[in-house]
Amino acid sequence: DHQVEVPREGYDFVVVSNRLPVDRDIDENGNSAWRRSPGGLVSALAPVMAKRDGAWIGWHGAPDETLEPFDHDVFHLVPVELSGLEVQRYYEGFSNASLWPLYHDVIAQPEFHRTWWYAYRRVNERFARMAAETAAPAATVWVQDYQLQLVPRMLRRLRPDVTIGFFNHIPFPPTEIYSQLPWRRAVLEGLTGADLIGFQRPGDAQNFQRCVRKFLGVRFTNGAAEFTETTIADDAAASSSGPGRATSDREGRRTSWTVHAAAYPISIDVEAIRELASDPATRKRAKEIRQELGNPETVYLGVDRLDYTKGILHRIKAYGELLEDEKLSVENSALIQVASPSRERVDSYIQLREQVEGIVGRINGQFDTMANTAVRYLHHGYPFEEMVALYMAADVMLVTALRDGMNLVAKEYVAAKQDRSGALVLSEFTGAAEQLKQAILVNPHDIDGLKEAMLYARDMPGSEAKKRMSSMRRQVLTHDVVDWSQRFLEDLASYGRQSVGSETN
Ligand code: G6P
Repeated sequence: DHQVEVPREGYDFVVVSNRLPVDRDIDENGNSAWRRSPGGLVSALAPVMAKRDGAWIGWHGAPDETLEPFDHDVFHLVPVELSGLEVQRYYEGFSNASLWPLYHDVIAQPEFHRTWWYAYRRVNERFARMAAETAAPAATVWVQDYQLQLVPRMLRRLRPDVTIGFFNHIPFPPTEIYSQLPWRRAVLEGLTGADLIGFQRPGDAQNFQRCVRKFLGVRFTNGAAEFTETTIADDAAASSSGPGRATSDREGRRTSWTVHAAAYPISIDVEAIRELASDPATRKRAKEIRQELGNPETVYLGVDRLDYTKGILHRIKAYGELLEDEKLSVENSALIQVASPSRERVDSYIQLREQVEGIVGRINGQFDTMANTAVRYLHHGYPFEEMVALYMAADVMLVTALRDGMNLVAKEYVAAKQDRSGALVLSEFTGAAEQLKQAILVNPHDIDGLKEAMLYARDMPGSEAKKRMSSMRRQVLTHDVVDWSQRFLEDLASYGRQSVGSETN
């Protein structure tokens, strides 16, 4: 628990996330090239990085490979190494087979293994240390998501001078479910090392505050709570504690800080979609897609990572029943289901893939003709241009998640519909449902309700459809991901200064 030396040089703004914001392409000669990852978070933070002398700490995606820090477009990237065993235990295990299902309403049964927890702790320590060695004096460090919940407290111990933000991209579960976690106190202690913890929905922030009250005995008032920690001081620690954040006494170093918790619903890179949707090439591609499907009257679309939280089975089941009921036919409608491969070595994902492929096979076997397919199931990722063309081609977007922190696909669809056509069927169990109130909201567990919504979306009067879409577009276009990051970072900066003030008084 010793503090690290505060680097003299170093970066004023440091982002820490499990994955680096770049993907690696390997060409036929085995040469690798980095490409900026798609996604709102990366686009939102790129300008901040460029302006504030920023660095990004994360895993580069391959096991057992050490990479030196390198620069790529506006990013200074600091790769964190993970061994093959750590990928299994920290990433596939604790992050994606313990925390992910636990935080998503236990849709799949979470597994708890001590070996996974030890690896999670060890890897979090590595990220925290890397952040401590990268951040300039009094820098701002922004930690992202459930894979790194222990980093805030670890980092605060190493570097009491930095301002620490944390954003949880997934839901935060109610106490009754969170209680299952054998390390429930340790995780809350980890998170509460931050000055500001952001959540997708006010309900997530409330769940978190209740858990802190129950398991740490600390009460939040108006979204803020005081934390104190005493650690045994050593000389190095005493001399490197930064400008004024920590107060010391003789037995140890007593530090206190205020933790804020609130909702900051994330959004999308509206500008990137606007550009693509206005590009004649994308429009042409959207037309082509409909032609390739044989110009059906109605194109239904689902776009998800192949994940059990997304309600893909419920959606396909409902679609199959509508074919069975002859409310839809393979001639007059098509369902495109893009399911991009995800976490492919985790058991519940292997099982889900078998189930989805089983049901798609049964439906297609029953309803396909020589000319038409009921469900176009596409188990690959696509470039973003193709996604925008798909959104433009679709009449009805189906977002039927059983639980989803936000769901950015819903917002992307809305942003892509510049002509205000199209309908969005949206699960009430997504964070997005709190912002897109004019969507056709559904409970995806209610298959009859879902079927009705799918038909209603097709048949609703044009004027109603346009009205709903216009209102959703107003919401999305005026709340993009740049606003999101600005709001979070402004609040974080003000809280950071506040805690300096309160302790030096
Ligand atoms: C969700 C999580 C992210 C994660 C992404 C892809 O959106 O909130 O933290 O990066 O899924 O999952 P993966 O396991 O491939 O990083």
